[in-house]
Amino acid sequence: MLKALRGTKDILPTDVGIWQRIECSARNVFARYGYTEIRTPVIEEAALFIRSIGNSTDIVQKEMYVFSDRGGRQIALRPEATASIARSYVENFLGEKAPLTKLFYIGPMFRSERPQKGRQRQFHQLGIEAIGSDNPFLDVEVILLAVKFLEDLDIKDFNLKINSLGCQKDKFELIQKNKKALRPHLKLLCNECKKRYHKNVLRVFDCKNADCREVVRNIRPENSLCIDCAGHFETVKRGLEKIGVNYAVDLNIVRGLDYYTKTVFEITQEDLGSKDAISAGGRYNNLIQEMGGKYTPAIGFAFGIERLILAVKEDPSKLKPTLDIFMATTSDELYEDAILSMNSLRENGFSCDIDYGKRPLKAQMRMAEKLQVRFAIIFGEEEFRQDKVVVKDMKNRVQKKVKLKDLVKEIREARQGG
Ligand code: HAM
Repeated sequence: MLKALRGTKDILPTDVGIWQRIECSARNVFARYGYTEIRTPVIEEAALFIRSIGNSTDIVQKEMYVFSDRGGRQIALRPEATASIARSYVENFLGEKAPLTKLFYIGPMFRSERPQKGRQRQFHQLGIEAIGSDNPFLDVEVILLAVKFLEDLDIKDFNLKINSLGCQKDKFELIQKNKKALRPHLKLLCNECKKRYHKNVLRVFDCKNADCREVVRNIRPENSLCIDCAGHFETVKRGLEKIGVNYAVDLNIVRGLDYYTKTVFEITQEDLGSKDAISAGGRYNNLIQEMGGKYTPAIGFAFGIERLILAVKEDPSKLKPTLDIFMATTSDELYEDAILSMNSLRENGFSCDIDYGKRPLKAQMRMAEKLQVRFAIIFGEEEFRQDKVVVKDMKNRVQKKVKLKDLVKEIREARQGG
C-alpha cells in the first residue's frame, strides 16, 4: 500500500474544522489591521532562498528540498514565504502602489527536518509582511497583531520574547563579540557548530544539540546597538508596554535566517515547550534591496499552523463541519420526491444529503446519526398521501408531521428555537 511521505500528513475531513477556524480567524484579524492576501508559487529558483535565508543556515544547508527541473534549473520547494514575497514585491512593483504594503499569506512550506510532534516536512504557515517602513510603531503593531491573533484563538499562556540584532554594522559587531565569547567553549560544541562558529556564529544559538544548548545558555550574546538602533528598540519596548503587551527581552533570540536586522521576536507556548516556537518574526530591512529593489525596510512574522493546533484548547468535535438535514425514505417510489425536496432545501441554504445506496430506513437513520445531522426528514407513504413528511429533530429527540409546503419554514423555526 502506498502511504503519505514521512513528515507529511493528510488533513482529513474530521480534522479540517480546526484548520478552517484558524484560517478564518487569521483572515478576520489580519484584515482588521489592513492586510490583504498574497499567494506566491510553492516552487521558486533555489537561488532566491540561498541568497535571502543565507547559504550557511540549516534551512539552506540541510533542510531545503532542491531538484533540477527538465530544463536543468535548480528549483526549491519554498521553506518559508518571506523571500518569495520580497521577490514578488520587487518583481510586481508593489511598492509603487502604496508607501506601505501590508500582505498576509497562508500555505504549505517544506523543510526536510526530522519529523516529531509539531514538526513536519510539509508544514503550514500563516504570516504577514509589512513592507515599506522602519517606524518602530510598526514593529509594535506587528507584534500586537500576533498577540491579538492568539487571543482570538483563545490561546493563553504564551511567552513573547524580543531582541534587537541592530543594523548590518551592529550585527557584524554582535558576530565578533559572540565569536570571542564562544571561543573558550569551542571544544564542547557539536561538530556542526564548530563549523558554524567560523561560517555563521549566530547559528550556534539555534542548535538543538543538548551540549550546544548548555554552552549558549551561559553565554549572553550581548548586543551592541548603535544609537539609532538602540533608540528604535527602546521605542518598540515602550510601545509594547503602553499597549499592554507582555514581553521579555531575550538576548538569545538571534533567529535562524540571515535576513533579519533590528527587532526580532519569538512566541513560545507552555504546552509546546520552550524549544519550538509557535511563531517567529522580525525586521528584514535590507532584503528588498538584496532582491534588486530599492532600500525598503520591512517586518513580518509567521505562525506554524500545526503548532497552533496543538495550542488551541477548543473541543475539536465542536469544530467538525456537520450537515443540517438527512433525507430518508421508506420506499423507492418516494425517492424522486425526496430528491426534489432536498434540492429545494439546499436552495434555501440548508446543507442536506440523501442515501444514494437506497438502504432500508433503519440503515438510513443510522447514517443520519453518524453524520450528526440536526434533522432527519422521513418520506413515509402514509404521510406522503396527505402531502406531509416526518421531521425528526435529532438533537431534541422529538418528531412531528409537517406539510411539505411548510417544510422550509418549519425547519428554519425549529433551528432558531435551538
Ligand atoms: P521560522 O522561524 O523559520 O520563520 O518559522 C516560523 C514558524 O513556522 C515557526 O515558529 C514554527 O511555528 C513554524 N515551523 C517552522 N518549521 C516548521 C516545521 N518543520 N514543522 C512545523 N512548523 C514549523 C520564518 O519562516 C520566517 N519567514 C518568519 C518571518 C516572516 N519573518 C519575517 N516575516
